[in-house]
Amino acid sequence: MDGTTTAQTAANLVLLGPPGAGKGTQARKLEEGFGLIQLSTGDLLRAAVAAGTEAGKAAKAVMERGDLVSDDIVIAILRDRLGEPDCANGVIFDGFPRTAAQAEALDALMAEAGSSITSAISLEVDDAAMVDRISGRFTCAGCGEGYHDSFKQPAKDGVCDNCGSSEFNRRADDNAETVAQRLKAYHAQTAPLIAYYGERGVLKGVDAMAQIDTVSESLTAIVQEALA
Ligand code: AP5
Repeated sequence: MDGTTTAQTAANLVLLGPPGAGKGTQARKLEEGFGLIQLSTGDLLRAAVAAGTEAGKAAKAVMERGDLVSDDIVIAILRDRLGEPDCANGVIFDGFPRTAAQAEALDALMAEAGSSITSAISLEVDDAAMVDRISGRFTCAGCGEGYHDSFKQPAKDGVCDNCGSSEFNRRADDNAETVAQRLKAYHAQTAPLIAYYGERGVLKGVDAMAQIDTVSESLTAIVQEALA
């Protein structure tokens, strides 16, 4: 992030929530609505795995198990992406931070750039519903738009609403066994960050069991307030 160009009014949001809470779905909507940059460490790690980088090789088996990739690897990947100029307009952190060490590293990186986290939003959901959400999920191979077998189907069967592609992907770690491990990792290592951001006075909670558009309205209101 270029500290000389960061607007004081830029919104920098952290989306907290277990797998399937809707972090990616909502981050994409906020990106479109406000010109913020979605920064997903899951996407960055999957790209590193696909590219066969050293970080990707180290992360692959860990991700397939549903465990967290080491802080060193994730923070290095995040730091590189955050250093790109577009991030000065405001960032939605999707899936980062996930540990106390990552949260502290993020605070330090933001401070170096003369910026800060404006809101940390906890997407509140029932764990029991998350396996259904994740096992029904698929993504457009062309543009990354997310869909769901029951909750969000393309308007025309087999064709992406956004870019017209007819190719879709399902993630390797979206199976019941791995999802159970990902939920366990969330509660052990990431849920404590709700208190971390609460102590800093930037925490907001949103009912993310509501319909996608209803959740989006709540998040939009939070961003508008941050930018006011
Ligand atoms: P990551 O890619 O971050 O996955 P995740 O946190 O497990 O989250 P998901 O992408 O599964 O869920 P989401 O909350 O984005 O839900 P979505 O919007 O897609 O991480 C994957 C792995 O990478 C980790 O397990 C770890 O190994 C590693 N990793 C990543 N970051 C790391 C870090 N910082 N440190 C260490 N390791 C890291 O929604 C799910 C489905 O539900 C979709 O089909 C959607 O259409 C539907 N849906 C969404 N909202 C609603 C709603 N309100 N009602 C009905 N359906 C909905």
